[in-house]
Amino acid sequence: MYNIQTLNKIAACGTDIFDKSIYTVSDAPENPDAIMVRSAKMHDMTFGDNLLCIARAGAGVNNIPVDKCAEEGICVFNTPGANSNAVKELAICALLLASRKIVEAAAWAASLKGTPDAPKTVEGGKAKFAGPELRGKTLGVIGLGAIGGKIANAAIKLGMKVIGYDPYLSLDAAINLDSHIQVVKELDDIYKNSDYITIHMPYTPATKNTIDAAQIAMMKDGVRIINLARGELINSEAIVKAIADGKVAKYVTDFADDIVLGVENVIVLPHLGASTPESEDNCAVMAAHEIIDYLENGNIKNSVNLPNASMNAVGTKVCVIHKNIPTLIAAMTTAVGNAGLNIENMVNASKKDYAYTMIDIVGDVNDALVDAIKATDGVIRVRVIKK
Ligand code: MLT
Repeated sequence: MYNIQTLNKIAACGTDIFDKSIYTVSDAPENPDAIMVRSAKMHDMTFGDNLLCIARAGAGVNNIPVDKCAEEGICVFNTPGANSNAVKELAICALLLASRKIVEAAAWAASLKGTPDAPKTVEGGKAKFAGPELRGKTLGVIGLGAIGGKIANAAIKLGMKVIGYDPYLSLDAAINLDSHIQVVKELDDIYKNSDYITIHMPYTPATKNTIDAAQIAMMKDGVRIINLARGELINSEAIVKAIADGKVAKYVTDFADDIVLGVENVIVLPHLGASTPESEDNCAVMAAHEIIDYLENGNIKNSVNLPNASMNAVGTKVCVIHKNIPTLIAAMTTAVGNAGLNIENMVNASKKDYAYTMIDIVGDVNDALVDAIKATDGVIRVRVIKK
């Protein structure tokens, strides 16, 4: 039996995927084998010995101590793309909110309730809520992954000129980009040339305050900025000052803090980017499949701290999480040879400091062999999956 712990409410269509004869799913199991999480903060948690993986039903993993997890042999997954349509749609909305004073105008119209001749008053007062169209304007997209790429393509359809920046642009993401999108090599080109800027990158210590006073200073006067990614990517104090100076015309953010709340020309949404039933379902289903394939087959897809790797084995799979260092694979294969066993298939992949090796062995994979592999310098965790 495997115990799955849910730290947040996870859509039922995801948790229902677990076969009840081998899985229990609850919010407080003893010693979970896997955790499903949305935004619950996990940095101060201690993980039990059984915990093999954490699946984040969503994109951002800044609520999870991913390095500590790798160090403890815990695979962390996310669900890239599963909520990208929801965020794309909110980004289109945010572009319009940044332009057309919709929020302010609606609040003003609502304030007229009970006043005499409201229809006449609105016609007389609407001029102060005029705002520019998107068509023909330049949108700078920082980060062209699953979400940024979709927004860039949608903006082309809205008649915008789109420039994008992504130092880690994957081949998959690149081929899905509309050919009219200009991909620039320097982030400064986005700042200098955009009427609207939207940011779609993960938050890590290295990306904190990606947009700060110095970056804002490079921007066009009257630029409109959208942040549906993470609050920490943009320095709130710098934005609020730039709004007060008239440098930034509008800031639409999905992340509340005391600095941006209640400021004129800042629209704060309560982290609604992925809050659609469709996206919650997609994320939960993808996360459940990732957990099942890892627990039952040792295969890794969409991990943020370990490499992707999958293998169809003919025999017993020995799955090893280890440091990405020289001679370790040789030591493990020697241990298999010393046990008088042959390796039928083997997959090895690495991601930064960590690596994952699956060894397919027909024959008796006994405790002595497993102990020998575990004793190899740099090995973090060994798991044996019998056919
Ligand atoms: C994400 O990281 O997937 C989005 O911000 C939505 C969420 O946190 O659930």
